[in-house]
Amino acid sequence: MSFPITRLRRLRRNDIFRRMVCETVLTPDNLIMPLFVVPGSRVKKPIVSMPGNAQLSVDTLVEEAKSIEQAGVPAVILFGIPSKKDALGSEAYAADSIVARAIEGIKKAKLDLCVITDVCMCEYTDHGHCGAIKTNRDGQPDVDNDSTLELLAKEALAHIRAGADMVAPSDMMDGRVGAIRGALDGAGFSDVPIMAYSAKYASAFYGPFRDAAESPPQFGDRSSYQMNPPNAREAMREIALDIEEGADIVMVKPALAYLDIIAQAAQRFDIPIAAYQVSGEFSMIKAAAANGWLDEKRTALEMLTAIRRAGAQLILTYWAKDAANWLR
Ligand code: PBG
Repeated sequence: MSFPITRLRRLRRNDIFRRMVCETVLTPDNLIMPLFVVPGSRVKKPIVSMPGNAQLSVDTLVEEAKSIEQAGVPAVILFGIPSKKDALGSEAYAADSIVARAIEGIKKAKLDLCVITDVCMCEYTDHGHCGAIKTNRDGQPDVDNDSTLELLAKEALAHIRAGADMVAPSDMMDGRVGAIRGALDGAGFSDVPIMAYSAKYASAFYGPFRDAAESPPQFGDRSSYQMNPPNAREAMREIALDIEEGADIVMVKPALAYLDIIAQAAQRFDIPIAAYQVSGEFSMIKAAAANGWLDEKRTALEMLTAIRRAGAQLILTYWAKDAANWLR
């Protein structure tokens, strides 16, 4: 049957009909808010390229976490900017690291929030790469996979000891989920989940984040460990391996330019899928909205809904707090 019997506009006619046949629901429970913590007190240093976001000291971060909780967002993910960096990123796994103090601050405030930590070396190394550097067989400096695994495992363990509820390795070393799972289990934390940045692409959309986290690589780029954007089949291998190594949630990152990867992963794997709507996805809309070219709220909610529709259960987004408030 087709026109004039079939008329798809019938169920678009009013808001009630549209609500009744709505296929995709976005709720605050789907959202995770990224936060950047720096040393000091009463710090709220705006991140110019990401309007509305700021580097926060522990005290101001705890206040922000309270308002995120009040908006109904269930989780935050913490990124640390240490006071000093070195070749092996020792601040990443120090017991009193900036991230550890932020976790303790949030936990002391007894907020109803899941505290996730980003586990990576790039914010803590003076060279800005995501692991330890060694000279490779071409005589070039490169990130050494296997020695980095120990550092990442130590970092994850330090975050969990400080009270974090979940760790999220974002480095893209081979075998890191297994290494972290082993370290956590060995220390009695077998009940702590891992959200793996499984299909993380070497993306131009991370531009503004590198200012926020002060972590641009000082030489070269991240293409020897992050995924090559043209590849989709390889993403399924990355995800399958992370699941095998014990990941509880797998992530695709960025989101907007990788909706096909999210959709394929959701069809293929029965595991919760997260997607990271990264800094560039946020900043480009903010910039267009500031020029009056796009409506920020409508555009942001449309993008978030599209990420849900593709198959992501969880979305890491700089709009988490605003979107939760818009949705109420
Ligand atoms: C750390 C990390 C990055 C992001 C999240 N974790 C930067 C990178 O890999 O270069 C990007 C987040 C964003 O752009 O919002 N490895």
